[in-house]
Amino acid sequence: MGVYAVTGAASGMGKQAADKLRAAGHTVIGVDLREAEVVADLSTTEGRAAAAEQVLEACGGRLDGAVLAAGIGPTPRATQLILQVNYFGVVDLLEALRPALAATGSAKVVVVSSNSTTTVPAVPGAAVRALLAGNAAKAVRWLRAFGPGAPSIAYAASKIAVSRWVRRQAVTPEWAGAGIRLNALAPGAIMTPLLERQLATPGQEKAVRSFPVPVRGFGDPGQLADWMLFMLSDAAEFLCGSVIFVDGGTDAYFRADDWPRAVPARRVLGYLLRMRSFSKT
Ligand code: NAI
Repeated sequence: MGVYAVTGAASGMGKQAADKLRAAGHTVIGVDLREAEVVADLSTTEGRAAAAEQVLEACGGRLDGAVLAAGIGPTPRATQLILQVNYFGVVDLLEALRPALAATGSAKVVVVSSNSTTTVPAVPGAAVRALLAGNAAKAVRWLRAFGPGAPSIAYAASKIAVSRWVRRQAVTPEWAGAGIRLNALAPGAIMTPLLERQLATPGQEKAVRSFPVPVRGFGDPGQLADWMLFMLSDAAEFLCGSVIFVDGGTDAYFRADDWPRAVPARRVLGYLLRMRSFSKT
């Protein structure tokens, strides 16, 4: 039986994943603002450091996997908080936990992204790049320039950045080479307290309810947790840097022809250089 760290373990999809892991006989070190083995605030540098320290102590330096589900929805006037929890709350914590994940030789990590990554329009690329460069203040400046529509744009920016971070890191010697399988899950609208809060926020209910979902309705958090457990299982041994959409078809509805996409002609030189450098490793 394994030892797993689960952030956001007190509610919604993180709680369902933690409950299912425990029911399967695993040990779960939950991290959350309340009702968790490790009570910590992932929105601050100090909170993230304290969380990492306590998880590392609780697991004795060896983790079989992690689920990064703590997150803030598209909350009005909370741009800074959204970026701190949804991006840095994943990246900083995973960087600190990486040696413990590497120690078991076959760890699996699931980062909870969102289908807002591909379905929210007009997300400024500069904000995403600023996050990936670790510059939260610059990302906030770009996002605040967007005004009242900002919560969903800030949320999507945080999830695009964290998905790209996953894809960039997953393939490196430090992650893939250390036996860690790092992947992301991109849910659509799932009926959790986060979505309930969105449905109760003036101006957001209509937008959420009118968003196209080809299979209709909202997703079930237990089913999403089942996907997480599958991505933590041996079945994920060959899964690396993938973003799995479980969203009732919204991404396919808006973006059917956008991907998979062939390597663009302007990228062929970079592609050949990458091939050469890989063959030397
Ligand atoms: P939820 O609100 O039920 O659970 C999120 C958990 O994260 C809560 O227990 C909360 O206390 C914790 N959390 C928030 N800020 C924290 C902080 N500063 N430090 C530590 N813990 C903190 O939400 P849900 O829906 O289960 O969300 C899980 C993940 O799924 C989030 O990353 C969310 O962005 C993502 N997601 C949710 C969707 C939905 O429709 N519910 C859709 C797509 C993605």
